Amino acid sequence: MPGAYEKYLAEVLIDEETLQKRIAELGAQISQDLAGIDDLWLVCVLKGGVMFLSDLTRHLTIPHAIDFMAVTSYGAGARESSGQVRIVMDLSTNPAGKNLLIVEDIIDSGHTLDYIVKMLRTRSPKSIRICALLNKFERREVDIKIDYVGFDIANKFVYGYGLDLDERFRNMPFIGVADLNALEEQAP
Ligand code: IMP
Ligand code: MG
Repeated sequence: MPGAYEKYLAEVLIDEETLQKRIAELGAQISQDLAGIDDLWLVCVLKGGVMFLSDLTRHLTIPHAIDFMAVTSYGAGARESSGQVRIVMDLSTNPAGKNLLIVEDIIDSGHTLDYIVKMLRTRSPKSIRICALLNKFERREVDIKIDYVGFDIANKFVYGYGLDLDERFRNMPFIGVADLNALEEQAP
């Protein structure tokens, strides 16, 4: 049955099988690299990171805990980061002394992650690592070291698998390129 998302789909960028295979690889790699590390916390950046976190955590074979934070950097309806990042939900635990692995859906300009990392650093974690599912490297405005990347992608607006199109379609099991013309036509 076709999903409601199809109307806005220009192309499937990363299909479900490719996505899941890569996440399994990342899980194995992280489990190997961080074996022996104590007090590992995955910090999921909501809302976009939620699908990735839930699949990634099930591929980790090392002990770890999870926590969540939510930030916003887009104005309503905007498709580019404003560069003005705001925390809308903070972690439930104090990150001091912990080894953090930030789990993010996509890095675009880099402003969001730069803000998050700087903010977390002030709270004295033992270490901070970054795992991003998607990397729009062409658009980077801030230099950020990403420890784990799922896929480098071109500069196109994508949605699905946690990423939204005006808050909808996060449930798509694959990553699609949005047909923004179709979206504008539908705007009320
Ligand atoms: P940055 O601050 O420019 O790196 O933007 C990062 C945030 O913008 C991500 O965490 C996403 O929430 C959002 N974002 C960037 N590109 C896209 C996209 O193509 N689709 C959906 N959300 C995006
Ligand atoms: Mg995000």
